[in-house]
Order: sequence, then structure tokens, then C-alpha cells
Amino acid sequence: MAFYRKPRIKDAALRRILPVVLITLLGIVLLTFLIRTVSFSHVMTWRSDEIGEIPYKNYTISGSRLRTMFPKQTELSILLENKNSLPPRNLDLFPNLAKDHITIVLYVHNRPQYLQVVVKSLSSVEGIHETLLIVSHDGYFQEMNKIVEGIRFCQVKQIFAPYSPHLFPDSFPGVSPGDCRDKEHPSTNKCKGNPDQYGNHRSPKIVSLKHHWWWMMNTVWDGLEETQRHSGHILFIEEDHFIFPNAYRNLQILTELKPQKCPYCYAANLAPSDVNSRGEGWETLIAEKIGNVGYAFNRTVWRKIYSKARDFCLFDEYNWDITMWATVYPSFGSSVYTLRGPRTSAAHFGKCGLHQGQEKKSSCIDNGFMNIAVEEVDKTANIKAEWGVHVYERQSGYKAGFKGWGGWGDERDRQLCLAFAHMYHVEGSNSPG
Ligand SMILES: *[C@@H]1O[C@H](CO)[C@@H](O)[C@H](O)[C@H]1NC(C)=O
Ligand SMILES: *[C@@H]1O[C@H](CO)[C@@H](O)[C@H](O)[C@H]1NC(C)=O
Repeated sequence: MAFYRKPRIKDAALRRILPVVLITLLGIVLLTFLIRTVSFSHVMTWRSDEIGEIPYKNYTISGSRLRTMFPKQTELSILLENKNSLPPRNLDLFPNLAKDHITIVLYVHNRPQYLQVVVKSLSSVEGIHETLLIVSHDGYFQEMNKIVEGIRFCQVKQIFAPYSPHLFPDSFPGVSPGDCRDKEHPSTNKCKGNPDQYGNHRSPKIVSLKHHWWWMMNTVWDGLEETQRHSGHILFIEEDHFIFPNAYRNLQILTELKPQKCPYCYAANLAPSDVNSRGEGWETLIAEKIGNVGYAFNRTVWRKIYSKARDFCLFDEYNWDITMWATVYPSFGSSVYTLRGPRTSAAHFGKCGLHQGQEKKSSCIDNGFMNIAVEEVDKTANIKAEWGVHVYERQSGYKAGFKGWGGWGDERDRQLCLAFAHMYHVEGSNSPG
């Protein structure tokens, strides 16, 4: 094994100059890094009030190139996109946001029976009037709108994903004529599309949620007038997440405790990562992997996620959360934890599949939801600053090495996803384009 042994420095003189050489080399490396950081800051076109942000890959492109990256819009798509710049509602009732507010983003598709439950639960959340609620819609549905328009307990802003497959009846990102179906072969069937790793072609219904999530993340952090300079945390919830009355106050405590109690935590969660668990009930904080129910993080973390746009967009997996667990978080280098309380402040409910909410109206809200009991301890903040942190290490579940469930093999989906990462980083413009 002599080949693999490091060559020994026998010469004493060489040994003496070695530290000098090493220090010089270190200096050069540092200088190169500094120069690169400085030139990066010139191409960052997003505005920010934050210091110490993580430099990210150069996604700045020209406006003309950006236009070619997006599919031709339908009339409805353009109409909805214009709605996104309307100011929030209820400004007359709640003219100001609290200084340290945590913005809440609720992303929804089309399950009005569910949304109604979630909105009702939000109306009882202590402190909700201090913040802005953004409802991000995948598709346009009257019943969903009506519920959101009825909200009177805080500022509300509705946004619509303009490239939702649900807005494109006969063209990409919907189904276009000539698209391959199921396991057809592009050359023998003379159809369009790239199969995923299991040989299946794209299905607009299946890809829509990952597109929506990525569009929404980019839009909320880097696109919207209301939030693009927000310096605190943003909480993300879905249309089938019941929110407990103490959720907002607990989250404020968690985000405040996070820097000291759990410096290795990227996020704070309202619920355990095991969606069936209601928590341990111990007198301790819990650090574990980031779950997909009620997660909140800040702009520094978003920049880190954003810098992995290619990993996110090119991984053959149609679920956004599995994509994060299997590629994005592992690429951060160290374990990615979240901080939460020992009792849940949010609960996933319902049994209906994502896209079947409309057909079976009565069977959708199952008993699981009726069993969500809000007890006295869930009504006010119940996390204590003096608690220690219990860390769950090496939890099971999706992680680096998982190949993905597929469904995300079509080049057009991958390009649209990358286009979302570019859309607010257009050269020579400081405003969202
Ligand atoms: C970033 O991309 C733009 C447009 O493609 C290019 O002009 C610029 O030189 C790039 N900057 C860096 C640092 O790579
Ligand atoms: C955002 O959160 C991360 C992870 O908890 C933390 O390291 C970072 O300092 C925070 N950034 C700001 C500006 O508070």
C-alpha cells in the first residue's frame, strides 16, 4: 500500500518554510472567496434588509430569455396573475401589522369543506389579528374564493399560481394534444414527453402540487411587495391542517428560543414530523427532522433552499416534501433539524386524496377530524423557556439515497420549475417582473 502513503518531508529546511507556504495559500483562498462574494453581490437583484445572507448561485437572467422560459398564458392565467398585485383585504379593520409578526401562508387547491374547517380554526388563534394571512391558490374555484373572501379576523391576501396546470385546459402545463400518455414511447407513438425513471409520462394533476409549492415559495420570499422585505419567519400551512388556538403564540416562543436552544435548527414546527402523533407531552422542547405540517423558517434558510433550485427541480420525485428530504436538506451538509413543542399546535386531518375532494362531498371529512380535541392547555401558549431540548437523532423516513417515486421526468416540468427560480431575478430590474 506504499502508493497511498503520504510522501514524507525529510528535508528540514522544507519543513521550516512549510508554515509560510500554508499561510500564503490560506490567504489566497480567503482572498479568492472574498472577491467571489463581492462579485456575487453585484448580480443579486432582489432587495433585502438582511445581513449575513448566504451567497447563492447566479440565477440572474435577461428579461427576454425569461419570457421564453414560460409557456404561453391563457386568458384566465393572465387575469389571475394580475390579481396577485392587489393589496391585502381588511386594511380598514387591521391597518397595521405587529412589528414582530410571523406571516402565515396557507396553500390550497380545491377542498372547500376542508378550507372551511381550517379558516374557522384560524379565527380562534390568539394573536392572528397581528399578522398577514396569504392564501395561495392552485387553480381557480368559486367556492374556495368565497371562503377566503369571508375572512374578517386579519389582513388577507389572495394569490394565484398563474401556471397551475388547472388553468391550462389544452396546453402545457395542462395536457396538450400529442402528449405521451402513461407508458407510451415518444418515438414509436410519435408523441411528446420524457418518461420518468419508471417509464411513465407526466400527469398534470400529479405535478401541480410541487409546481405550486415552488412557485409560492419564490413568490412569497422574493416577489410580493408585502413580504419580499419581511425579515422574520414565515409559517406555511395547508388546507387540511387544523390550527390550535395557541399556535401563533407558541410559534413566537419557538422562533425566539431557537438561536440559543437549538442553533442547529433550521425551522420551527407546530406539529411532530409523524403526522399521526399529537406529541409526547413531556416537559421539554423537541428537535427532530422538519415535518410538513406547520413549518416556519426565515429568509436565511430560504436563500439556502433557493441555492439548491437545480436539485429541487431536476429530482425525479413529484412530492415537494420528499424532494426536500431526499435531496435538498441532505445537500446542506449537516443534519437539518426543526424545533417544536411537546404538544402539537396543528393537526393534519381528513382522508380524501388531494384531487378527489369534489366528487365525494360527504365522505371527505372523516372521524379523525372530529377527534381533534382542543383542550384547555391548547388555548394559550404552553411552551416554557426554561425547558431543555430532546433531540431525535437518525429518525426513519425519506433521506439521501432515495431515488424518488418518479412523476417528474418531463423536461418541460423541470424547465418550468427552474423558470420559477428565475422569475424574480431578472437582470437590470429591481422589481418583481
Ligand atoms: C450571471 O448571469 C448573467 C446573465 O446570464 C451574466 O451576465 C453574469 O455575468 C453572471 N454573473 C456571474 C458572476 O456569473
Ligand atoms: C434564520 O434562521 C437560521 C436558522 O435557525 C439562523 O441560523 C439565522 O441566523 C436566522 N437569520 C436571521 C436573520 O435571524
